[in-house]
Amino acid sequence: MTAPPLTLEFHALGQGTRQALIDDVRAGLGRQPKELPPRWFYDERGSELFELITELPEYYQTRTEAAILRQCASDVVQRVQPRSILELGAGASTKTRLLIEAAHSSGELRWFQPFDVSDAIVQRAARDLLRDFPGLTIHAVIGDFKEHLDRIPRFGRQLVVFLGSTIGNFFPDERRSFLSAVRQLMGPEDAFLLGVDLVKDPLVLEAAYDDAQGVTAQFNLNVLSVINRELQADFDLGSFRHVACYDRENQWIEMHLRSLGNQIVHIPGAGFTAEFKEGELMRTEISAKFTRQRVDESFAQAGLRTEAWYTDREERFALALAVPEER
Ligand code: AVJ
Repeated sequence: MTAPPLTLEFHALGQGTRQALIDDVRAGLGRQPKELPPRWFYDERGSELFELITELPEYYQTRTEAAILRQCASDVVQRVQPRSILELGAGASTKTRLLIEAAHSSGELRWFQPFDVSDAIVQRAARDLLRDFPGLTIHAVIGDFKEHLDRIPRFGRQLVVFLGSTIGNFFPDERRSFLSAVRQLMGPEDAFLLGVDLVKDPLVLEAAYDDAQGVTAQFNLNVLSVINRELQADFDLGSFRHVACYDRENQWIEMHLRSLGNQIVHIPGAGFTAEFKEGELMRTEISAKFTRQRVDESFAQAGLRTEAWYTDREERFALALAVPEER
């Protein structure tokens, strides 16, 4: 008997469900200033819109990260020699493919472990990877990385990757607990590759989150459609406007929806009614920007140290390779 090349492991998504949306809506809209967490952007339409964002001329992040990966993949693989690659928030693993390719051809890689909240994209990507990389076994874990990181099995020396500057969506305290959890699941020889967007001219950053074609505006407003559909709410999308601004002190982009008038929104699915004043801002996302120093400090707090730092010529984006501090 040979082992199956693809296995899936599901963890109860106590958080990924309708009740979690209700909780977030009640807590976030009941607070002043109002706030919604960015996780609810990504229904089918939202994921499509995000894909479109990654191709916008203003949104340099995705293509810059891919270019850096093309440059650094073989160096990362040489340093770590992973037997397994674990990708947090894997999605379609388009960029991780570059690492898998390098590690597969160097001969040591046996396992790919995509970890994501939703299984559909992961399964489709897994089939393509199995076709292209003979000898690779895929163990997909479906769960929430705020809850289930400690359940992921370990198959020898492991490279953990978290790309796309998704870490930018975490508030500082969430970032600390996330990095500590990552450190907990690492063995002494493992490594962690983190993609981060870098601090730069605020005009460049604001353009990346407020593109000329208005795709990011649609993406932002889409969260209201999600609440309308899931909780039978009556948000009028035409009565809100997309706002993106850079907070220089916190070094993060904030996205908001601005209410264009005084309005009352009914959200029967959450048993909740929200009142918006004209001009009122509701925050829907933060996207933190990093410096090398800030990354080093965040790693150090979690018991990690920066082993390599890869960036593009214009230093727009970076990939940081971290190892356990005591190594
Ligand atoms: C997927 C969280 C990395 O913060 O740049 C893109 C999401 N929001 N445009 C980011 C996003 C608006 C994106 N991340």
